[in-house]
Amino acid sequence: MRLLLLCACFTLALSHSCKDTLNNAGISSRFNETIAHAIHSMTVEGLKLFEPFASEKNSIPTVNQDLSKPEKVLPFAPDVQTGSSFATPVMNTIDKILSSIGDAKDGLGPHWSSIERVAHVFHMWDLWFKIRDSAWGDVTKNPPKDTTCQCLTDIENNGIKAAVGWVAKHYEKGTPITLLNRPIPKLLDAKSWSVWKDRLLHYYTPEALKDAATYLYCALY
Ligand SMILES: *[C@@H]1O[C@H](CO)[C@@H](O)[C@H](O)[C@H]1NC(C)=O
Repeated sequence: MRLLLLCACFTLALSHSCKDTLNNAGISSRFNETIAHAIHSMTVEGLKLFEPFASEKNSIPTVNQDLSKPEKVLPFAPDVQTGSSFATPVMNTIDKILSSIGDAKDGLGPHWSSIERVAHVFHMWDLWFKIRDSAWGDVTKNPPKDTTCQCLTDIENNGIKAAVGWVAKHYEKGTPITLLNRPIPKLLDAKSWSVWKDRLLHYYTPEALKDAATYLYCALY
């Protein structure tokens, strides 16, 4: 009994100190959401923006591309092959998206229209480029402390894996863009796009970009 209490206190103390550690490192209080958003559909190709030698041997949790599987969160970012039928990466990506429609193997669940799928894939690439071209420079120049990285990569306990799971679960019901559980219209016209655009830009703040860059650094190095 005493041992049990001791353990419980130790765990509490640990998570409490992670809160302080992350706070002191300038990580935002909603880092579970900013980071889960940035990584939920990460691929090896996306990781290569940050680390040219990235492979499937990574520890970044992602929504399973095949959501018919019982395991909704994969413990790594998968290597997703894009074809080479077309001449440019953009057209090959469009080909990949449209070729997957109906097979439910693009990690988005059944509710997304073709154009919503296209917008999602390019939005994630856009965000990854944004992270690399903004916060990533600072993070690599002033690398996070080991203690910061220990707290950030403890995804079982720090809420990041749970937030990726939140995304996977909500794909069963709809097309969430943020992790704020707000309803979103179908993307049909300029008016609905203005709502989508606003949502898509939600995690482009300096705080959210820094959270994501710091996590990626810790996970990759
Ligand atoms: C993220 O963490 C906040 C604060 O701890 C919590 O309220 C929120 O529910 C979490 N979000 C998700 C999607 O897990």
